[in-house]
Amino acid sequence: MKHIIFLLLLPLIFSCSRNDSNGGYEFLTDMVYPVPYEAYSANELMKDGKTMQLPPKNTIARGKMPFPYGVGLDEAKRAGRELKNPFPKTKESLARGGEVYKNYCLLCHGTQGKGDGPLIPKFPNPPSLTGKRLLKYSDGRLFHIITNGSGDMPSHGEQIYYKDRWFLVQYVNFLQETFRKK
Ligand code: HEC
Repeated sequence: MKHIIFLLLLPLIFSCSRNDSNGGYEFLTDMVYPVPYEAYSANELMKDGKTMQLPPKNTIARGKMPFPYGVGLDEAKRAGRELKNPFPKTKESLARGGEVYKNYCLLCHGTQGKGDGPLIPKFPNPPSLTGKRLLKYSDGRLFHIITNGSGDMPSHGEQIYYKDRWFLVQYVNFLQETFRKK
């Protein structure tokens, strides 16, 4: 019995090494080394010898769209004048907007947009999305606020896809609808 235990433990002795930079004996190396090139490795297939390449000119990454507006009130107003929602409102787009709202905005702005989300008052009070002032905001202006942020509100251009931000604008409009009629 003792001999069997010794034999079973024998690999442990050989799997270690005094040399810190030696990884020891490798068993099943399938997932240790990646099949694709490492991002920062040299690459003889590329003209400049690098694996990582800049995106080709005049291309846009999937799900991204350039947004040539700066931060601040003037730029928000300019976006408000110049931008239109390129996506038609459908049942699906509105549902998607609601989903995005739930995940990214509700925390501060609350389920109905009243500015009473679970993070309030730990975070400075956001204005009511259905208040008189914000009812006047055009789609482009809302899109600008969501994309670049506004005052204390952080920007969401990096977290939320271009299309979803426009669906979100539709959802904010939807929250505002009943208050517009009053
Ligand atoms: C971390 C909390 C927080 C989150 C998340 C957040 N907001 Fe805000 N929002 C604020 C605060 C605070 C203000 C007021 C900012 C100020 O005026 O300084 C604000 C302002 C606004 C305004 C009005 C801006 C103006 O011109 O007065 C709109 C519209 C708005 N938010 C929409 C959204 C939408 C849509 C989302 C979801 C993507 C969102 N917010 C996510 C906190 C938040």
